[in-house]
Parts: sequence; C-alpha cells; structure tokens
Amino acid sequence: MSLTNSVCSDTEAYALPRGGDENTRLKNQHPLFEDYAGGLIDASISKSDIHRVADIATGSGIWLAEVAKLLNNPTNVYYGFDIVASQFPENPGPQLGRFTMVEHDMTKPFPEQYHGQFDFVNVRLVVQALKEAEVKTAVSNIAALLRPGGHLQWQDLEWTDIAPYPPYPDYDDVRSVFKQHMKAYGLSECLPELVETSMQEVGFVEVNAKKSWHDSSSERAAGATTCVTTAMQSMLPKALATSLRSEGSSVDEATFQRVLKQLMQNLESLVLSGHNMKLSATKVMGSKD
Ligand SMILES: C[S@@+](CC[C@H](N)C(=O)[O-])C[C@H]1O[C@@H](n2cnc3c(N)ncnc32)[C@H](O)[C@@H]1O
Repeated sequence: MSLTNSVCSDTEAYALPRGGDENTRLKNQHPLFEDYAGGLIDASISKSDIHRVADIATGSGIWLAEVAKLLNNPTNVYYGFDIVASQFPENPGPQLGRFTMVEHDMTKPFPEQYHGQFDFVNVRLVVQALKEAEVKTAVSNIAALLRPGGHLQWQDLEWTDIAPYPPYPDYDDVRSVFKQHMKAYGLSECLPELVETSMQEVGFVEVNAKKSWHDSSSERAAGATTCVTTAMQSMLPKALATSLRSEGSSVDEATFQRVLKQLMQNLESLVLSGHNMKLSATKVMGSKD
C-alpha cells in the first residue's frame, strides 16, 4: 500500500487486506482459535438442538464450513454474513447442509427475513473492525437474528494482552503504531468486555465470558506467535499511515516505506530471536430470553 493510497480519507478501520492470501491466513489460524475456544461450539450447548446457524463477519467462511462437518446434518441451514463478499468461498464444494453467503454490515439492522431464524450465531475476531461506539448496536442487530432460547457465541481478542515474552524493546514501536491506529478509529483494546456488557444491556441471559491463555511451554505458543506477527505484518501499512496521520506527520513515500520496512523487520527479528507473543482469546456466551 502506498502512503498516498493509505492516508486518503478512509472511514473503514479495518486494516487487514482481503483476498487469497488473507483467506489462507484465516484458514491457518482457525485451529488456534478453535483450540482457545475449547471447540467450535461451546460445550454447554446441545448440538442436537442446532439446525440453523449464522456466522457474522464470516470472512472465508472457515468456521461455518467446519461447524457443518461437526454437526453432520445435511438438513441444517448455514448463513455467512460479511460486510464484503470478496472473501466468500467461490465454490464451497459439497457441504453438509444448505449454505448461503450474504453481504451485510452488522452495524446495520439485518433484513427482517432473517429475524428469529437462528438457533446459534457465531462472531469471531472483529477486534480490528468494530468500533467501540458500534458494539452495542451490532449486538442488538445480532440478537434479532436469534429465536428465543437461541445462543450467541462471540470470540475475540483483548488487544492489551498481546505482548512479547521475554520483553523485546524493538516491539515497542510496533505496539505504539497499533495503539495510535486503534485510538484514531475508536477501536476497543478490550472488546470482549464491551461485548459482555452490551449483551447484558441488550437483554441476553446467562451471559458469561471465558478467557483462554497459553503459557510459554504450551504447543499453542508458536502458533499464537505466528498468528499475531503475520496479522500485524498484514495490517502494518494501513496502521502506520493512520499513526502518522494522527501525529500530524507528513512524510514522503520513500520515508514511509523505510519506516514500514523497519517495523516489519522488528516483528521478523522478534520471531527469529526466539521470542513468543502472549495472546489471549475470550469467548462470550449468552442466550436470547
Ligand atoms: C479477521 S476477519 C475474521 C473472519 C472470520 N470470522 C474468522 O474468524 O475466520 C474479520 C472479518 O470481519 C469482516 N467485517 C468487518 N467489519 C464488518 C461489519 N461491520 N459487518 C460484517 N462483517 C465485518 C471483515 O470483512 C472480515 O471478513
């Protein structure tokens, strides 16, 4: 991304690219988040009661496709919603159940035809997309999709938990760029807490949040490090542009590219020097009254 492109007026907070490489990245990180969540569907929910499923911000639809395999019922119905259609699978192939992908922004009310239609709704990893001021509206829009007694499962990151261990000073500049980017766009560094509060305010019952960690000896450590550093490298061009803009810095293209390269190298050398990244994922559950 050039500086000229990236600093132009841009209201979308989302800094990740979209397309083939991004779909591969989402697919590669899927097992890690399934592991953090303790499975695709929370163990408290009876799978035999789930026949109509929606995945919001579905991206490539990887969670939806895997859930269809898990539920293993060809009469089930699966809907993927995303603000852009460009990552939807071109040819989902033979799937267990009926699949429909719909372009929709979760901050806007879902069309009435979908209201009360779903037993289970999933949301995963929108921390870099959903602004703090939009969270309660999104939760309320999603609530409308559920039948009474239906369940919402939302797994997301506490951005404040992300940190290298042992400490790695060269990461500080990267951290600062993301902090400025998220602040400039009104993104929350503690999204799961906001989701939990919003679910309570919107009237969900049995709301509970469960945070999952890994320690340095865990098999998850390497996966979490790869997941965080590759995602950050993908987001850095836009995040750096936002950060410079919010500082009021005016830099030429060559300087922008030089700073970008340095930040990318900081992340690479963090990994090469044997550091890992702490990462937590929090799963918030609730049921519609
Ligand atoms: C990091 S990806 C996660 C994809 C998927 N949930 C997963 O876990 O593999 C975030 C997705 O959120 C989508 N998104 C961003 N803002 C959205 C919005 N307002 N409504 C619906 N989808 C949105 C993006 O287009 C992207 O596909």
